[in-house]
Amino acid sequence: MKIGILGATGWLGGALARNLLKAGHPPGDLLVLNRRGPVADFDAWPGVIWAADLAAMAAACDVLVLSVRPEDYRVSAPLPFGGQVISFMAGVSLEDLARDFPAARIARAMPGGGASEGTAHVPWCGTGEAGVLAALGQVDRVADEAALAYLSALSGSGAAYPALMAQAMYRHALAQGLPADVAWNAVRSVVCGSPALFAGGIAQAEALLDTYHGYRGITAAGLDAAAAAGFSDAVAAALEAATAKALAF
Ligand SMILES: NC(=O)c1ccc[n+]([C@@H]2O[C@H](COP(=O)([O-])OP(=O)(O)OC[C@H]3O[C@@H](n4cnc5c(N)ncnc54)[C@H](OP(=O)(O)O)[C@@H]3O)[C@@H](O)[C@H]2O)c1
Repeated sequence: MKIGILGATGWLGGALARNLLKAGHPPGDLLVLNRRGPVADFDAWPGVIWAADLAAMAAACDVLVLSVRPEDYRVSAPLPFGGQVISFMAGVSLEDLARDFPAARIARAMPGGGASEGTAHVPWCGTGEAGVLAALGQVDRVADEAALAYLSALSGSGAAYPALMAQAMYRHALAQGLPADVAWNAVRSVVCGSPALFAGGIAQAEALLDTYHGYRGITAAGLDAAAAAGFSDAVAAALEAATAKALAF
């Protein structure tokens, strides 16, 4: 299967290209294209083919991945590409893409954080087949672009909300007079270390919370206060605002 990546020297396109190659995709079956022309990014795989332009790349591949920023995306006339298009671009709809690739099957995907490491959540929607995305992480097909927008807000946020939690806890600890290194060691253990305890599934997270509530101790008092102060409402408001932003692109 020949795969072409528009934007293969960018963060996401590059991650996909490298992960595919590391997983054994033949370099000669990978076409890449960027704005600057050939650079050293694929020197470790000399067989990788630098395409001359988008039309030439489309003519030579089965799967065409669009990984440029939306403002850099321009197709001057519809391309007669009959394969699979996979677009990572926010704000370029399936309908827009169908105008540029009227003969293709078209999918949109929104990889979240961890794409370089192959650990991202990768929701996609549209038509056809998007097995290529497994190189970026855990792939989930969703019903439509509304679900994709919602997941752009959720898994697309990467480490943003854990970072927000870390910042809130750290600032609070400093305000109690703790030294910065002690505050950070404490916050890191909570935000970066402990989540591994429930990585196995939501049932583990719920069981953990039940256990803490069951002790009726220090953490239970904190959890009750967080709930009373609107913790769940704050999370819901964040995801709703972020989804609205994703839909407005
Ligand atoms: N970053 C994320 O976390 C993330 C997550 C989900 C979706 N996305 C989407 O994925 C897409 C790529 O994001 P990114 O962060 O990887 O962007 P990026 O790092 O800025 O990379 C952009 C790529 O597009 C190429 N490019 C720009 N203009 C071009 C043109 N006119 N012709 C050919 N190639 C061109 C660049 O080539 P040069 O290297 O030559 O400039 C580069 O390879 C965007 O649509 C973004 O919204 C990103």
